[in-house]
Amino acid sequence: MLPMTFTDFKNYFEANQNHYADLAWDDPHQLTPSELRAVRSSLQTFQRGESSEGHYLYSRAKQLGDPEYTAAMRLFIKEEQTHAAVLGRFLDQQGIPRLRGHWLDDVFRGLRRVLNLEHTIRVLLVAEVVAAVYYRALFSATYSGLLQQLCRRIMLDEEMHLNFQCFTLRTLAAGRGGVGAWLRRQAYRVLMAGAAVAAYTTSRSAMRAGGYGFFSFLTAIAAEYARTERMQRPDGLIAVRGGKAAAPAQPAGPLGAWQWPSQRLRAAQ
Ligand SMILES: [Fe+2]
Ligand SMILES: [Fe+2]
Repeated sequence: MLPMTFTDFKNYFEANQNHYADLAWDDPHQLTPSELRAVRSSLQTFQRGESSEGHYLYSRAKQLGDPEYTAAMRLFIKEEQTHAAVLGRFLDQQGIPRLRGHWLDDVFRGLRRVLNLEHTIRVLLVAEVVAAVYYRALFSATYSGLLQQLCRRIMLDEEMHLNFQCFTLRTLAAGRGGVGAWLRRQAYRVLMAGAAVAAYTTSRSAMRAGGYGFFSFLTAIAAEYARTERMQRPDGLIAVRGGKAAAPAQPAGPLGAWQWPSQRLRAAQ
């Protein structure tokens, strides 16, 4: 079997472009006052966050000098912007104003802009792990069928985003080990923990309505982040939906936060 390349991700993102075309925008459910209290501010924050990828990330990606990676990154950015667009339309439909900016988004944007491409992707990965768990909480936080439909599709996309970032990191860090790699891993675990606490603090009402208390949220984040660390190992399993596994076949992969309610990991089938 040929090894996985960025072309596999490019092909996946290309094939995945139109899956928001048939959403139930005619769903008449208007969020109730208690549903609004639960999800309003975090929806605004995440809608803002989804729209923040862009030129900078693309120019960093180009520095790698792999046109297939650049093309995959361009499609990835487009997909995140689609998330922002559909969530924005949902906000408009519910009469919730869109945010122009949010401090958490500014922090992440600033953090991404220091150091190199690998660091940029590691910071992005932290934000994607938070998103993966948030959309699962949001799915359960309201009775809106449209919002649940949005959450499900975004969760499926975010799963592949995690795989894409992990594959990139594995490529960038190939052959590296020792104390430096260990220290780097600890530093990003600290960043992940900080981001999780910040995300819970700013989105507490949605997390609670979605069934997450502080500790169960942190546990879910830790499990998801550990899964991404395993994917980055040279022998870790990374799959592209509709494609092939990037590493030696294993009987079953660990469960991810996107797997809702009982979806099986493709690569394990
Ligand atoms: Fe997204
Ligand atoms: Fe994402």
